[in-house]
Amino acid sequence: MTDNAVGLIPAPRRIRTRPDRTGARLDPSLTALAAGPGTEGVARLLRATLGQALALSLPDGEPGARDTITLRTDPALKPEGYRLTVAGRRVEVVGGAAAGVLWGVQTLRQLLGPEAFRRAPVKSADTTWAIAEQTVEDAPRFAWRGLMLDVARHFMPKDGVFAYIDLLAAHKLNVLHLHLTDDQGWRIEIRRYPRLTGTGGWRERTKLGHRASPLWDERPHGGYYTQDDIREIVAYAAERHITVVPEIDIPGHAQAAIAAYPELGNADVIDTASLGVWTTWGINPNVLSPTDTTLRFFENVLEEVLELFPGTFVHLGGDECPKEQWKASPAAQERIRALGLADEDALQSWFIRHFGRWLGERGRRLIGWDEILDGGAGSADGGLAPGSAVASWRGYAGGLAAARAGHDVVICPEQQVYFDHRQDPGTDEPVPIGYVRTLEDVYRFDPVPPDFTASEAERVLGAQANVWTEVLEDRRRVDYQTFPRLAAFAEVVWSPLPPPSTRDFAEFNGRMEAHYARLDALGVSYRPPAGPRPWQRRPGVLGRPLEGSPPIV
Ligand code: ACM
Repeated sequence: MTDNAVGLIPAPRRIRTRPDRTGARLDPSLTALAAGPGTEGVARLLRATLGQALALSLPDGEPGARDTITLRTDPALKPEGYRLTVAGRRVEVVGGAAAGVLWGVQTLRQLLGPEAFRRAPVKSADTTWAIAEQTVEDAPRFAWRGLMLDVARHFMPKDGVFAYIDLLAAHKLNVLHLHLTDDQGWRIEIRRYPRLTGTGGWRERTKLGHRASPLWDERPHGGYYTQDDIREIVAYAAERHITVVPEIDIPGHAQAAIAAYPELGNADVIDTASLGVWTTWGINPNVLSPTDTTLRFFENVLEEVLELFPGTFVHLGGDECPKEQWKASPAAQERIRALGLADEDALQSWFIRHFGRWLGERGRRLIGWDEILDGGAGSADGGLAPGSAVASWRGYAGGLAAARAGHDVVICPEQQVYFDHRQDPGTDEPVPIGYVRTLEDVYRFDPVPPDFTASEAERVLGAQANVWTEVLEDRRRVDYQTFPRLAAFAEVVWSPLPPPSTRDFAEFNGRMEAHYARLDALGVSYRPPAGPRPWQRRPGVLGRPLEGSPPIV
């Protein structure tokens, strides 16, 4: 990897470079851009990023000419693969499809130094930009390279979402999973049910820190994306070859919906009309009732979701659904009897299977957290509708079970890639939650552990880092938890790495020096290697560290 002198992250598959020879020089007065068929969108982005940052006007040029950046596709390459050649005063980026061309352009951007990540030039207008002679050949290891943002617990206004889409693209990540609904807020406009956002889109106050903390932020918190906001986000992501996967979490994590429409809750057990949007954290007993009313309501919600999100997968949550209310509910018990089900877990399985089939009939696929397998353990298909996929978060076991039952898997274990978890054992980590997972730990994360057989491994679509936001109140806190670890994650899911135990973290960490400069240029409030800056700390706000700490109950 010594050829990777500029510190490319994620590391490419192959790079041959002649650092002693300038292969090309980008020159504001000279350099042109030739975009072949199908690469016009990438050319637009290149002008908007590199062009703005380096004061290059990039007029249209002739393909393959000197002092020209040529973009083209070649179906002989994999769709997301690319070859970048810098030689003889020419730059050429060839991708299997437009996505590959875009990833190649991201590599070109890194070759140009941190200034290429700014929004406007910081050097004089006649500065030229030398790139060493080289060839980079590259393609991703996994098709699903994702980040989940929990925009429900703390709403992220759309400018932050656009910034994250840009950050994903800069790291060659291609899935943005938006956790849009939870007990503490409903964040997507549904025309048919305006109270979902009118009532469910905000809460009166917010627990500050872990739920055992005595502190409250007494300010109301809220916000939601209108349907046009969602269209804008989806289109912005699509230009960057990123798929947005929406999550509507059912049948648990649904108190905001019940607060808006009390008939969705177990009204024969509790007074659902008295529920508000939840103001604290934890696993909530107030879950949806498994009635026809609820099924029809969420079918109607999903009709609108499908109009907005063109991607194949729709995430329906399915995690952490306590069964106490269903045990106490005559309506739920009658449903169990009528369907001939074994118990409440089987009822949840039936509920999820209903929507898995419903999505399948519309050409889409359900994905859910690994609890969606819990009630179907006795059946060969795990109780899931055909085509359903599982996001394995409670370790790898759910992923393995799903793969064995013939389902695709996205690996995202909380023990490894939950970025709300603290990244250092030090006492000045802000609101420390969960396990200590350092940059090195993430670099050693393996989406496909050795106990997966080859055919089980084929079921692994990829991996995803998840950022839950109970204690991340704004974009800067999200940045702090997400970076620099997302850079290590990007390399894990993109690059052909050796087994975790033999990975050269020191070499990666050396490249991070260049990457911190890129993140600085991008304005990311990452955690510095030496620890949080004073304003990144949250003294006195209780977290919930795991591993060896006394439990907080
Ligand atoms: C989850 O962390 N409850 C998926």
